[in-house]
Amino acid sequence: MIFEKNILCIGAGYVGGPTMAMIAYKCPQYKVTVVDINPARIAEWNSVKLPIYEPGLDKIVKKARNRNLFFSTEIAQGIKTSDIIFVSVNTPTKAFGAGNGMAADLQYWEKTARQILQCSESPKIIVEKSTLPVKTAQAMEKILKSNGNGDQFEVLSNPEFLAEGTAINDLMNPDRILIGSHLTDKGVKARDELVKIYESWVPKSRIITSDIWSSELSKLASNAFLAQRISSINSLSALCEKTDADITNVSQAVGMDCRIGNRFLNASVGFGGSCFKKDILNLVYLCRNYGLNEVAEFWEGVIRINEYQKKRFALNMLTAMFNTLAGKRICLYGFAFKADTGDTRESPAIFLAKRLIEEKAELIITDPEALKNAKENLREISGEVTFVEDPYEAANDCHAIAIVTEWNLYKDLDYEKIYRSMIKPAFIFDGRNIIDHQKVFEIGFNVYPIGKPALTHF
Ligand code: UDX
Ligand code: UDX
Repeated sequence: MIFEKNILCIGAGYVGGPTMAMIAYKCPQYKVTVVDINPARIAEWNSVKLPIYEPGLDKIVKKARNRNLFFSTEIAQGIKTSDIIFVSVNTPTKAFGAGNGMAADLQYWEKTARQILQCSESPKIIVEKSTLPVKTAQAMEKILKSNGNGDQFEVLSNPEFLAEGTAINDLMNPDRILIGSHLTDKGVKARDELVKIYESWVPKSRIITSDIWSSELSKLASNAFLAQRISSINSLSALCEKTDADITNVSQAVGMDCRIGNRFLNASVGFGGSCFKKDILNLVYLCRNYGLNEVAEFWEGVIRINEYQKKRFALNMLTAMFNTLAGKRICLYGFAFKADTGDTRESPAIFLAKRLIEEKAELIITDPEALKNAKENLREISGEVTFVEDPYEAANDCHAIAIVTEWNLYKDLDYEKIYRSMIKPAFIFDGRNIIDHQKVFEIGFNVYPIGKPALTHF
């Protein structure tokens, strides 16, 4: 089979894997190869059980794999034979030196740029897929030009906006595709090649273009806006609990204003995930770097409220349960940072589990997809935690349940049966407001939702 173009993606993670699977699925005329330094991960991509759980992913991988989608560890060979290279290696928050705990750690990114330079023998388009600080493309260009062969490369920014759990639908029907390029003839030509790929399935009106810096910043800004909405509603949930107002009513009233919109206004135990905190910290660091302290503080407030919300939830549990959790059995319903994913990065469940163990509670954790990651996250306290797949068995003999992840599964459980198996008085803390509070109260539970009056039998 002769392919029209060879596309390579470096980094077979949550972003690279599904995005490339979709391109391969929709564009059989292109050969798409995904490479990674981690052989175990590549082996999983080539196996029956993919390394990430994402509804609908199996189907498209199965269709395209070994047709025009390939997973491999041959990075140098992949670079040599490619026309377009997507880079989606991870860019975690830096954990050392200048910018420790704030700036993006760009070491993998730079190493990848150097490897591209070293292995390339023909002109290539390099696409930034990873979320990066503004002006990273410029740094990459400097590296790529360092051996006098810079004209071979054109760097584009094409941030990925997919959310975990809905990745396949987000990739299939994106709100927008954003491509940033230099506005030179060469830059525009490269941009048009990328536009052509997406046009295979995305309506033209949804493909927007800009300069590179605006594109890089738009990704950070989008995540910051989304996180800001959650912190806004979560900050008001604290006020609702003091005033007997109901956050669901407030969200509904605010969200029906079409200038505001109704999405991302669900109060919760706090947002998690690999992106929101990392990207806001990155934004804050950039602002500080440019002397924009007021702007930095504004965005830092979004993270402060999120930390506050997690602490507040744990404290509410302690207060409600007569100010002592020592020796009490508490069951966490869900450990993933959101429903429909096994991902636990930055999950509020990690904070909550550690906090409850500090109070000497006994923890039982259940989750339909995330137990493997949960065990890894809680390795240092694993002796004090039990992991149980079945939610009924998990709640058995417990004093309290805390709903941490909004899995649909938890909405429809037989709470009467669960109540019967628990120690009385039985408590339920709904960190996602997903169950019918009145109904479980009538069963006998003492119910503590987020941002609503508690329903108690005392
Ligand atoms: C990551 C970042 O978190 C996100 O900010 C960015 O937008 C895209 O990359 P994700 O795909 O979720 O998102 O990361 P992860 O699942 O950790 O995948 C990154 C992959 O890159 C890993 O499989 C890792 O092994 C691989 N990698 C890392 C390389 O192949 N080469 C490297 O030098 C470093
Ligand atoms: C996010 C962005 O949505 C996506 O566009 C970007 O590419 C990556 O970061 P993701 O982290 O996968 O995606 O999930 P998202 O659906 O945004 O949820 C993030 C967190 O916010 C989760 O912990 C979720 O439970 C929480 N959340 C979301 C709320 O607490 N309330 C809400 O109303 C919505």
